[in-house]
Amino acid sequence: MRKKITVVGAGNVGATAAQRIVERGYADVVLVDIIEGLPQGKGLDLLEAGPVLGYDSQVTGTNSYEETADSDIVVITAGIARKPGMSRDDLLFTNMKIVGEVTRSVVEHSPDCILIVVSNPLDAMAHLAYKVSKFPRERVIGMAGILDTARFRTFLAQEVGVSVRDVSALVLGGHGDTMVPLVRLTTVGGVPVTEVLSGEAIEKIVQRTRDGGAEIVKLLKTGSAFYAPSAAIAQMVDAIVLDRKQILPCTAYLQGEFGIDGLYIGVPVKLGAAGMEEIVDLRLTEEEQAQLNRSADAVRQLLETMRTRDPSL
Ligand code: NAI
Ligand code: 2OP
Repeated sequence: MRKKITVVGAGNVGATAAQRIVERGYADVVLVDIIEGLPQGKGLDLLEAGPVLGYDSQVTGTNSYEETADSDIVVITAGIARKPGMSRDDLLFTNMKIVGEVTRSVVEHSPDCILIVVSNPLDAMAHLAYKVSKFPRERVIGMAGILDTARFRTFLAQEVGVSVRDVSALVLGGHGDTMVPLVRLTTVGGVPVTEVLSGEAIEKIVQRTRDGGAEIVKLLKTGSAFYAPSAAIAQMVDAIVLDRKQILPCTAYLQGEFGIDGLYIGVPVKLGAAGMEEIVDLRLTEEEQAQLNRSADAVRQLLETMRTRDPSL
């Protein structure tokens, strides 16, 4: 029997993620949005691609949660992106309301699902979904590290002139300016990147990675990235559905790992059928740990802002 995967938010990220998932052929997909006709239209369009691409998966577009019942995985992409004149806190409060409501509806209909949170600000929204769902931490995971790492690998491969497949890297931390690309563990064809590129070139690429989301927003002008984000979502879904036990950088709730407690932040995790099956507690250098701590402080600040609205968080 095929798995059932719901994607909430039929915008750029949600619809593209739904497309990538349905093309795998291993799951039926339910696409949910508040805009009438949008998920139905995109869902039908995706369904009609089946005969050409050869998948039999069902795709349902809907504005309600009945059709999502008993989903195995639910991907939450509902929310808004920042617009001119809006503060970071405006975005936080708006998406906090949306993600809170969406999580309540999802949990009511799929109490055993695994939640993959995508809406921004990512680490704070993952924390919110965790608290609202009351799920164990294994079943609430955020997507950001795969995307940030993919950007890092792309820029490094371009600079060195090799295949992206030859570049192995890991970006930890919050999904924002304070993310922590681990240069020490980055290799090109198995060779440490520090032996292949100058410190200056690496530093430029680290900064470009940190600004990776903003670079796309600046080019698109009306929205943010969705091709790479949806690819990252699909990789997480693959790892869970196929029980890959794959080590991937994801946003997870730390309970003492990396010396951090009670906070969602990007770390390497083992993803499999049970969700986040293990946090890979790497030993960091003092400088790397200090950078991760700074990133954790930035996430904590967002949580404090959220708690002004909802102290239960
Ligand atoms: P979008 O604006 O194209 O789509 C968002 C969709 O959410 C819209 O169709 C909207 O109608 C829907 N929506 C709003 N409230 C809803 C509700 N209560 N229930 C169901 N649907 C609702 O935005 P896009 O580009 O798809 O991005 C979605 C979110 O993902 C944003 O918050 C964005 O910042 C975030 N994002 C996060 C990334 C990450 O690495 N974690 C990467 C890319 C985007
Ligand atoms: C990104 O990094 C907007 O978070 C999104 O592209």
